[in-house]
Amino acid sequence: MEIYLAKEMGFCSGVRRAIRIAEEALGELGRIKSLGPIVHNRQVVSRLAKQGLEVVESLEEVGGGTVFIPSHGAGLEVLRELEERGLKLIDATCPIVRRAQKVAQRLHRGNFLVPVFGESQHSEVRGIISWAGGEAMAALEAPRFDPPPRQLGVLSQTTQSLKKFGHFLAELLSHNLDSLAELRIFNTICQATSKRQAAALELAGKVDQMIVIGGYDSANTNRLAEICSSVVPTLHIESAAELDPGSLAAKRIGVTGGASTPDWVIQEVVEKLRSLA
Ligand code: F3S
Repeated sequence: MEIYLAKEMGFCSGVRRAIRIAEEALGELGRIKSLGPIVHNRQVVSRLAKQGLEVVESLEEVGGGTVFIPSHGAGLEVLRELEERGLKLIDATCPIVRRAQKVAQRLHRGNFLVPVFGESQHSEVRGIISWAGGEAMAALEAPRFDPPPRQLGVLSQTTQSLKKFGHFLAELLSHNLDSLAELRIFNTICQATSKRQAAALELAGKVDQMIVIGGYDSANTNRLAEICSSVVPTLHIESAAELDPGSLAAKRIGVTGGASTPDWVIQEVVEKLRSLA
């Protein structure tokens, strides 16, 4: 068995930054509540839980103390409520997610209807919608608006595929062009995402099987698995423990990991693969 690694994989700058901010704050304060998981990766969440970062899912569970906002951000009204309650905020929203939030806010203030290409239930997307006054909508299929809009301002979840965003835009135009006076498009897909996807696609084209490592609820990891499986048989695993030698039939195996997958988890998988090679 030959093992090949993707040129770009693993932690992105936004995730590294969020973990650094959390560790510094935990060193100072001891216990902090995180509004949602710091990143969509079980190993990272449980390592930080041991240091005192407790995940809460809603504002009701927050109680008092210090609240940590993860890299995928939070809705504007959530931030306002936390401030009104006098809670100390440690905001680790990724700057690229913040840009998407601000774009949505600006478009909404300019009276644009704001379709967001993305998963409507994903926490980052829910946050972006809230920054657009709650009036934006998110979908993976381009909507046909009724009444027809005059102004459309489009953006994407940061971890979506650029190619699919392109298809979404084409479809959106074909459905709504007649009524449009103005259309603004913002490519809010982050470079870390695009580079990891391009590297995964390139590698998938050269091997017989891909292994994608990362959280099952990590949007960017799921996208990598989707992209790879369109080219070769692909195995999505969270850790080396899930690697079943029986499922490795290929001679050339490619490995990649999502932007929220720690280097040591990737390393463990690679070492296990090498031991089987
Ligand atoms: Fe930020 Fe992109 Fe990572 S949006 S959290 S740098 S995947």
